[in-house]
Amino acid sequence: GLPSAVTIWEVGARDGLQNEPAVVPLDVKLEFLERLAAAGLTVVEATSFVHPKWVPQLADADELISRLRQAPGVRYPVLVPNDRGLDRALALGVREIAIFGSATETFAMRNLNTTVDGSLAMFEPVVRRALSSGLRVRGYLSMCFGDPWEGEVPVPQVVSVARRLLDLGCDQLSLGDTIGVGTPGHVTALITALGSAGVPADRLAVHFHDTYGQALANTLAALQAGVTTVDSSAGGLGGCPYAKSATGNLATEDLVWQLNGLGIETGVDLAALVRTSLWMADHLGRPSPSAVVRALAAD
Ligand code: HMG
Ligand code: MG
Repeated sequence: GLPSAVTIWEVGARDGLQNEPAVVPLDVKLEFLERLAAAGLTVVEATSFVHPKWVPQLADADELISRLRQAPGVRYPVLVPNDRGLDRALALGVREIAIFGSATETFAMRNLNTTVDGSLAMFEPVVRRALSSGLRVRGYLSMCFGDPWEGEVPVPQVVSVARRLLDLGCDQLSLGDTIGVGTPGHVTALITALGSAGVPADRLAVHFHDTYGQALANTLAALQAGVTTVDSSAGGLGGCPYAKSATGNLATEDLVWQLNGLGIETGVDLAALVRTSLWMADHLGRPSPSAVVRALAAD
C-alpha cells in the first residue's frame, strides 16, 4: 500500500546550489529559503558547514544561517562532515544536522578525503556531541546504486555502511542515488535487504538524482516499500548542463504532482513553488529542467 502522507525534504538550497557553476548571491539564497517555507515545505535543508574551498558555492553558510529568518514549524537542517563543521553549526544555534557517508571507497576519498572507515571515525564524535547537545542527526549515504568509478554497487556493501551510520545514532538514513542510475527493482531490493538487516523503512528516506529519468519511478517503488520521507529540489535545481554526472535532484514539483495525483498529503502549494522555481531560473539564467514547472509555466 501507499502512505497517506509524505514528508518532503527540500534540498534545493543545498544540493541544488552546491552544484551550480555560479555562486548565487546571499540575498537570493535567503529569499529562496523564505519562499520555499512559504510554499509549505516543512524541511528545508539550508546549507553545508563544509570546507569553503571544497564547496565555494556554500562558503557563506555562517552568514546565511545568522541572517535566515526561520519560519515557525519549519526545520532547517545543515550538512556537517566533521568537528570543525559542528563547531560552526552549534555557534549559530543550528538544531539539526546531517552527516554524509559513502557506500564506496572511491567516493569517500573524493568527497571527504578519507576512507569509509576514516569517515565513520570522523562522524562518530560529531554525532555523539550533536546528540548530547539535543540536535537531530540525519545520515546520508551516497552511491547506494551505482558509482561513476566503481560501477554498480552491491546491495550487501550498501547495507553494511548503512548499518554503521545508523549505529552511530542517526535517526534517519537517506539513501542517495548520487548519479541517478538506479531503477525501481533495485530500489525495492535495497529497501528489502535493509529491512532484513533490521532497518525498518520508517527510518529511511530516499534521495534520487534524475540523471537517467528514473527518479519518479524509483520514488514510487520506495513509497510502496514503506518509505515516507522523500528528498527533492525545487525546480530540479543542480543540473549543470556541462557536467554529465551532476544533474539535478528529483524536482519537488514533479514529486508533488505525483503525490497529489495519488491523494498523498504534502502540504505544499504547487503554484507558489512553481513561481519560486521560475524566479530562481531567472536568477540562474536558464530554464528549470522540471517537466511540471515547464508544463505549469505554459498554462
Ligand atoms: P580535508 O582537506 O581533509 O580537511 O577535508 P582537514 O581536516 O585536513 O582540514 C584542512 C583544513 O580545512 C583545516 O584548516 C581545517 O580547519 C579546515 P587549516 O588548519 O589548514 O587552516 N576545515 C574546515 N573549515 C571549515 N569548515 C569545516 C572544515 N573542516 C576542515 N567543516 C573535509 C575534509 C571533510 C573537510 C572536506 O573533504 C569537505 O569539506 N568535504 C565536503 C564535500 C561536500 O560538501 N560534498 C557535497 C555534499 S555530499 C552530497 O552532495 C551527496 C548528497 O547529496 C547525497 C547524494 O546525492 O548521494 C548528500
Ligand atoms: Mg545529492
